[in-house]
Amino acid sequence: MKIGNIKIDIPVFLAPMAGYTDYPFRVLCKRSGAGIVYSEFVSADGIIRENVRTLEMIHFTDEERPIGIQIFGNDPEVMSKATDYINKNFKPDIIDINYGCPVPKVTKRGGGSAALKDLCLMDDITCAVIEAANNTPVTIKMRAGWDRDSIIIPEAGIRLEEFGVKAITLHPRTTKQKYTGKANWELIKTLKQSINIPVIGNGDVTNIADIQKMFEYTGCDGVMIARAAQGNPWIFDQAKSLFDKNHKPKITSLISIASMCKEHFELLVNDKGNSTGMNLMRKHFSNYLKGFPKASIFRQKLVTADSYKNMVLELKAFENYALSSGL
Ligand SMILES: Cc1cc2nc3c(=O)[nH]c(=O)nc-3n(C[C@H](O)[C@H](O)[C@H](O)COP(=O)(O)O)c2cc1C
Repeated sequence: MKIGNIKIDIPVFLAPMAGYTDYPFRVLCKRSGAGIVYSEFVSADGIIRENVRTLEMIHFTDEERPIGIQIFGNDPEVMSKATDYINKNFKPDIIDINYGCPVPKVTKRGGGSAALKDLCLMDDITCAVIEAANNTPVTIKMRAGWDRDSIIIPEAGIRLEEFGVKAITLHPRTTKQKYTGKANWELIKTLKQSINIPVIGNGDVTNIADIQKMFEYTGCDGVMIARAAQGNPWIFDQAKSLFDKNHKPKITSLISIASMCKEHFELLVNDKGNSTGMNLMRKHFSNYLKGFPKASIFRQKLVTADSYKNMVLELKAFENYALSSGL
């Protein structure tokens, strides 16, 4: 699969997720085999104001390439300036525009999925970003429409392709649905049949069988995974076997969970310092420690550890348990 000139070996991608897809989590998913990883959505306003926290979200390493930086905003000029800034200062492989965020704080100000009900705004933002991006491919991540009476697939996809967008990821829920109901994969199929650029299907893929089903049912070119990757970077390693029959996926033993937790924790602490790293790691522990005997006991201890030293000790105790259990 190709997006613009970027060749992607394994077309299974890590989705942008606010609060999750920072450098440590992205790099672990990449090492597991994710074809592309994305930053969480980054405010175009914050970028052009050079807000330190916003710029930190864009920071990435070469190991993560190909990487997409996702931006959101409501003003074509600001989006254009932000694109230019990212291109010059960070040189990502892809710039992705967020037309999917349903959070009222964002949509009330015309950002994220608000563009789904204002196609003129969507046109203006898209064209401004493509012009500013120069040769960097611009991709879109979108929902299917604002509500069930205003589904804009495939029409919006056809317009976006004409403007020069290089791929579209569709999460086929409406803004109003948020995360309720089911993602309507039929719309991914319709979009794929309507445009010539790659279509990346997203929504309700929970395991490797779902990845295969989504490819087969929709004919999509790539599959993007969000929630099922939380606490489970191995899903990308398992996905490799769909494309390489000789690939033997790693078995997710308790020992591999313990070493993934340790590696994740170390990456976070090295990147953000002990205190922030420790706080950010709590939600990842909740995701990693599930579905095995005593999981809730270790989870509780790790999530509530009240100092860096205690978190290290609890992690060591979990590691010892994993080694002795042989699971
Ligand atoms: C915690 C969380 C944060 C998210 N943040 C973003 C984001 O920053 N940008 C975006 O386009 N989508 C975001 N999403 C939506 C996901 O990328 C994805 O479209 C959605 O979760 C459906 O995919 P899934 O069924 O694989 O989870 C987020 C989802 C979750 C659960």
